[in-house]
Amino acid sequence: MTLTNQELRDRFAPFISRRDADRHINIFWETQPSAFSEPGKQFIELSGGMPHTSFFPIESMSVNILTAPGSTDTINVPITHETPSSLALKHTLQYALSEGFQPLIDFVRAFVTRLGNVPQYDPSLWQCLIANGSCDSLFKIFQTCTDERSVVLVEELTFVPVISNILATGAKVVPLKLSMRDDDQGIDTTYMEDLLANWETGPYAAYDRPKFLYTIPTGQNPTGLTQSVDKRRKIYALAQKYDFVILEDDPYGYLKFPKFNHEKPMENPYISTEMTTEQYARDVLMTSYISMDTDGRVIRFETFSKIFAPGMRLSFVILNNFFYEKLLKFQEITTRQPTGISQQIVYSTIHAMAPTKNTDDVIEAWLHWIMKLACSYTDRRNVMLDALYNSEAYKRGLYSVVEPSAGMFIIVNVNVDEKRAPVIQQMDELIRVMDKHGVRAILGYKMAVDREFSKDHLNFFRLTYAYADNHEQLREAVTRLSDSVVEYLA
Ligand SMILES: Cc1ncc(COP(=O)(O)O)c(C=O)c1O
Repeated sequence: MTLTNQELRDRFAPFISRRDADRHINIFWETQPSAFSEPGKQFIELSGGMPHTSFFPIESMSVNILTAPGSTDTINVPITHETPSSLALKHTLQYALSEGFQPLIDFVRAFVTRLGNVPQYDPSLWQCLIANGSCDSLFKIFQTCTDERSVVLVEELTFVPVISNILATGAKVVPLKLSMRDDDQGIDTTYMEDLLANWETGPYAAYDRPKFLYTIPTGQNPTGLTQSVDKRRKIYALAQKYDFVILEDDPYGYLKFPKFNHEKPMENPYISTEMTTEQYARDVLMTSYISMDTDGRVIRFETFSKIFAPGMRLSFVILNNFFYEKLLKFQEITTRQPTGISQQIVYSTIHAMAPTKNTDDVIEAWLHWIMKLACSYTDRRNVMLDALYNSEAYKRGLYSVVEPSAGMFIIVNVNVDEKRAPVIQQMDELIRVMDKHGVRAILGYKMAVDREFSKDHLNFFRLTYAYADNHEQLREAVTRLSDSVVEYLA
């Protein structure tokens, strides 16, 4: 059947929480366009509680943008009340539409279309909603969709704020086993298939069948794992068979790296192959869940946090019209609108990177920036893996490493002796030793959904190569980590 708005409503109404069903939004302002047409006279606005532009303390701004990550060359971008006309300060400092500014919506829509991160159904049935960060949109989606009857499948180790958001709605979270093998990364589909096929007799028989899967498919947080395309296809087929919605949270997807080369640890194909944006889009980026979606069952979260700056609190969601209306309404009565100045700065910066304002040129320029970032992250990933493999603790078999091919994280599994003391106690003690040596990491067990379920995965640290000042600092950090592990275990 061809998808229609009515079909979307019928299909996804059961995916809405009781809370949302009780949410009534009273629009108290006139939404009809004005019929006033007296020549030479201006319509006078006495309706919106909007301050006059002259009451804003900012007259103009200018942003100096870098020509490449780490560069000292900058381009100056002036931002005034009049320019850029579509996103002038008088608009971005003002109350505005809850869905975001149209020029930015148009840009992100063109951008995801260029990369194929769009659904397969009729383009008039899906939208891009600008938002204040994926974390916030995920909170809103769970508020809108889940309640005490709902069950959400999640990776057994995950971005924990999302778990808090799910639980706060009264819903249950059910962990899915992760495979950490080099040739099989991410959700264990054999486990998942078995769980779903035998739900009524399985460990969660007391719960309803799951309505949602929350997944971080590329450069997963905390594990750094990336699901293969085959795995994504299997999981999408399971979503169709067992009728659940996939929440695809993909903050790290653009930071995608070619595989680590053990023979040549510093090899960086972004540089050595002089990779083009075409090759990056076609050969490097992963196939997204949304690009497989024929049914409207994928909601994709993208953010500017990792490819622009987290402080912008700017992101967008790609979703079908039904979920869009729901999320937009919630946005209308909560955050009201995505921050105007952030939209302004992101939009102006990206446009200033391009030689012309032609959308294709702007997309190309933005892709160049993203690729340069991915290239720098590849170097950092290489440096850290090389340092880990050459470290004393690794050579003595005291830890192992899971190699990431995307994102910001590497996990190091510490070979603690379970007979000595409980694993968590040892990891807590070890992190104190690391403190003494001057290096900090995340305790993996703190990112487990259910520590009993993940009892074989509690002995790891999540390390990030994103924040160190330079490669030397990364190498020094690994030496300190290794010294700590040797001191504690040897
Ligand atoms: C998986 C995941 N989702 C979402 C976020 C947060 O994104 P945002 O900054 O857009 O709220 C993070 C940040 O660490 C993350 O790891």
